[in-house]
Amino acid sequence: MANNGEGLQQVRDIIAAAHKDCSLSEKLQFYDQWATRYEEDVTILDYKAPRLAALALASVCLLNRESKLVLDIACGTGRVAQELHHCGFNLFHGLDGSAGMLEIAKKKDLYQELKQSMLGQEQLPYESEKYDAVVIVGALSDGQVPVSVLPELLRVTKSGGFVCMTTRSNISNLQYKAELEEGISSLQNKRLWEEVLVQEVQQWEKATSDKEITQKSDYIPGVIYIFRKMSPLPIAS
Ligand SMILES: C[S@@+](CC[C@H](N)C(=O)[O-])C[C@H]1O[C@@H](n2cnc3c(N)ncnc32)[C@H](O)[C@@H]1O
Repeated sequence: MANNGEGLQQVRDIIAAAHKDCSLSEKLQFYDQWATRYEEDVTILDYKAPRLAALALASVCLLNRESKLVLDIACGTGRVAQELHHCGFNLFHGLDGSAGMLEIAKKKDLYQELKQSMLGQEQLPYESEKYDAVVIVGALSDGQVPVSVLPELLRVTKSGGFVCMTTRSNISNLQYKAELEEGISSLQNKRLWEEVLVQEVQQWEKATSDKEITQKSDYIPGVIYIFRKMSPLPIAS
């Protein structure tokens, strides 16, 4: 696809279809079909989330990154693992609901393990306290992965490990973002994780609808959250 205004319009149409109100299985079918063009299209969109999330995680995970086991949730075609690899991480497991996206991720030869699973409906297919870091990028948004997944992200993370999440702050995702932040705060109030970094990014990706374009910018904003899982408090005797 040509990298010009026409290309951007085509990608906008594709994303509009992705954001259409439909069932989860229809959405995953959509991702199956999009898989082979996904990377080209998100490049046109100047989608920066995988790189920004990787840089943010690297900025808080300073030592021995090469031996940290990272779970990439909603890994798609594997762009997050690619960016984390550039930052010195080397051990990746990935999970996604779309077989088509997983097929592309497999070809990257970066993941030691890839699983297909629907998020938000069932437990994650991993034991508790397994991962040094869990990342979920580009999938916590309206109509994709429900906020109910948060306790599961926390469960599979080791005590002291990091959970790195992103969401969009554009108008159509503000209600979801508020629910997400409520879920994050609820786990924080229970002292199950603590805030490490919250980074607002103004130029997250190009807007995909005219409604989102402001006088100031044709980009929409987004946010990265990193939380550290806290060790359980000792039971008082
Ligand atoms: C926008 S892509 C992001 C992929 C990758 N993390 C990235 O940043 O390039 C969203 C991914 O989430 C997956 N996904 C969305 N909702 C899902 C769900 N409820 N269960 C499993 N996978 C889901 C899709 O299949 C797709 O691969």
